[in-house]
Amino acid sequence: MKINDKVFAAKTMLSDTTPLHTFLVKGKDFSVLIDSGVASMFGDIVDVVEEARSTDVRILFNTHPHADHIGSNRQLKEKYGLLVAAPAGSERWIEDMEYHYEQFCLPFPNILPHSEETKRDILGLMDGGSKVDLSITEGMTIKLDNDTQLTTLALSGHMMYEIGFIEHSTNTLILGDAITLYEGDLFPGHYSPKQYHATVKKLAEWNRQYQFKQVLTAHFDPTDSAGLNKHLLGVHHMIDQVDWTIHQILMEAACPLSLEPIWRAVCDRMGRIYEFRGLAMVHGHLTEAVQDGKVLQVGDSYTVR
Ligand SMILES: [Fe+2]
Ligand SMILES: [Fe+2]
Repeated sequence: MKINDKVFAAKTMLSDTTPLHTFLVKGKDFSVLIDSGVASMFGDIVDVVEEARSTDVRILFNTHPHADHIGSNRQLKEKYGLLVAAPAGSERWIEDMEYHYEQFCLPFPNILPHSEETKRDILGLMDGGSKVDLSITEGMTIKLDNDTQLTTLALSGHMMYEIGFIEHSTNTLILGDAITLYEGDLFPGHYSPKQYHATVKKLAEWNRQYQFKQVLTAHFDPTDSAGLNKHLLGVHHMIDQVDWTIHQILMEAACPLSLEPIWRAVCDRMGRIYEFRGLAMVHGHLTEAVQDGKVLQVGDSYTVR
């Protein structure tokens, strides 16, 4: 699918309502891919490269190392002989699948233990580990030709390691999951509410400055500057809602509560399923609330002061 003169997208549906996009940015000197989707998207991405008539695909950027953004890395590397580039710090998630599973799916194995089915489901989204050739930080410039120029942004929050891009000649913002699905039956997860709030603020400031013509994300349909602001508000509200819900649960509790009942109550009250992403997210909120002195930790339990 052609987005504009420089940017093309491949799309698949992860569920009835959740799309997954990956992108190609075409330059005269060379082209780059942004995210590799799930393993089964390989053919769609190759089709987009052909549709765009991009010959020299030199780099595949992974916005962050979640399975649905790195799934076709190995096949794309083999086909195009490209370099894999990912946010600094994320390398082992992409190179070592056992480590990926443990870090992602087993944040608290005493609460949500190892499950062969979950492991198969998650690792099945990826075509195996692949070496990361370039580690990316904010402020890097990739010149695809004299006009076509990408700059990198650091956007941690959803994950500790996440990057996004601005393509300047078309004024396009390209993101992975820096804007997560803030509605739905599953928490997509964020590791740090503070970092995530900072990223939302940063994107709003960039949007004020650039008034992006097009805003592309992995899991929403392409939008514009106004659409970005709406999404940023949605994410901001979701982060705050998790905080309020945790606070309410602790206020109403007769005694200090451990992580598991707090997490389950947050899922119940916000209508989300019990899942490892939400568990790690609730822990992130509790950790920062303790640091801020809003919540008191007594052993393994939490209470409001
Ligand atoms: Fe993600
Ligand atoms: Fe994603």
